[in-house]
Amino acid sequence: MEGDVQLPLAVNRHSTLNLQTQVFEQIRSMILAGQLRSGQRLPSSRHLCQQLQVSRITITLAFARLADEGYVETAKSLGTFVSREIPEQALHALRTGFEHTEQPIVSDQFRPDLLKLRSHNLVNARLKRSMIDFWVGRPDARSFPLRTWTRLTTKRLLSAGSALTEYRDPTGFIELRQAIADHLRPARGIIAEAEQIIITGGCQEGLNLVCRMLLSAGTDAIVESPGYAGASYLFESFGAHLHQIRVDEKGLDVAQLPDVTNALAYVTPSHQYPMGCTLPLDRRLELLAWAVKTNSYVVEDDYDSDFRYVGSPLAALKALDRANRVFYVGTFSKCLGAGLRIGYVVVPPAMLPAARHYKALMNNGQPWLEQAVLADFMNTGGYARHLRTIRQHYLGKRDALLRALNCNFGQGRAIGAEGGMHLAWRIPAHLPVAPVIVSKALEYGVGVYDLSPKAAVSPGRTTYAERHLMFGYSSLTEKQITTGVERLAASLRTQGASDMRPIKALSC
Ligand SMILES: Cc1ncc(COP(=O)(O)O)c(C=O)c1O
Repeated sequence: MEGDVQLPLAVNRHSTLNLQTQVFEQIRSMILAGQLRSGQRLPSSRHLCQQLQVSRITITLAFARLADEGYVETAKSLGTFVSREIPEQALHALRTGFEHTEQPIVSDQFRPDLLKLRSHNLVNARLKRSMIDFWVGRPDARSFPLRTWTRLTTKRLLSAGSALTEYRDPTGFIELRQAIADHLRPARGIIAEAEQIIITGGCQEGLNLVCRMLLSAGTDAIVESPGYAGASYLFESFGAHLHQIRVDEKGLDVAQLPDVTNALAYVTPSHQYPMGCTLPLDRRLELLAWAVKTNSYVVEDDYDSDFRYVGSPLAALKALDRANRVFYVGTFSKCLGAGLRIGYVVVPPAMLPAARHYKALMNNGQPWLEQAVLADFMNTGGYARHLRTIRQHYLGKRDALLRALNCNFGQGRAIGAEGGMHLAWRIPAHLPVAPVIVSKALEYGVGVYDLSPKAAVSPGRTTYAERHLMFGYSSLTEKQITTGVERLAASLRTQGASDMRPIKALSC
């Protein structure tokens, strides 16, 4: 019974207050603080005298005083209850305001900027089990190396010693940082010491760490348009002044970089989010020259660069960074799983002391166990094997998607299919605009996404949004992909809008 819950009361026999007053004060405080709510039953006096090792009369007198002052009421043979007469609103005003309430705890007098905060959407709330969901950037859960992970976890746990009970280096587990440095050299052309790598809670915390070092209210922040909302919303939350620079078919239009100083430029050069293009070498060099000239930093988000299907991957922008102007942000969310929350930042040497301090202030480091297991996974060759396997799987899925789009629509154009886990699709001219297609598809149990904040896209001021859709393919089977596109085509065939011709399915 609720009233029989043991209350956190204690008496001090050396206090100048007598025992009954101590019990009275503590129960009264709990009522005023809302820990005991109106109508709630108190423990019986018998229970309380056993708990506190005091005489029954002490409790009876304390209860009598609480009743006299209107805090409790007694119902014969049922027990003692917190008074229903106490006006809840009056009590509420006394409370600190930090408990859960329906009202927002910030007001426009107290940090009005907090009311404007936005966060990006990385979970599809509309997802139903029966739906074929082309949600973007989700790895295939079936491909997670569960057996190896379990074995490595058990091994680490059995030899953990004090690793789980002691604070550790806030910048991360050195074996993992070394394994990442060893991976980045051949895979991304980045030459970095293990000490330059800071392990973070995914890319998102990596970006936060960089913001702490580079941004304050009014700092100029350059973002891609359309671009990743998780970055631009974050920069906004630091009070940065955003410059949305147009993305064309090659990526960020570097000719439009503003004439500012001490700025931050955030880019996704390997596989632009959301358009999927790869920034060409000449633009990369121009961007780096701009950073040097303006005393700015570039933040390279390399979120899904492990997947490249055509030609060899272009080395990371960071690999060209002779002037140490690039923070490189990586993640294991796409190649292993977002639930792990492991990412990292390669920090320019001059910024390392600041990065170490901020990381310690933020959370004193990531959980040891996952870092240790990931280090073992990388050092024993499991990671390289895993990447080879899923690259093949994702290539098959991508091809299934391209085939299905081509068969069902013919003239649409896929962009960014050379790599990554999603592609952008230019909608053929005879089909309706993206938001119409999204809602039609939904009626047929298919999730496709336009360039909107619902899919973590900050569309900016581009005209892209209406004529493009995004298709994530990595988490679906080839069969689901084919069926999903067929259903999408069917949903549009029934579309009665006057601005579209019916689509003739091509024979494939
Ligand atoms: C461009 C981009 N960067 C970063 C992330 C998030 O990465 P993490 O899970 O490591 O925070 C995403 C997630 O979809 C993304 O699309």
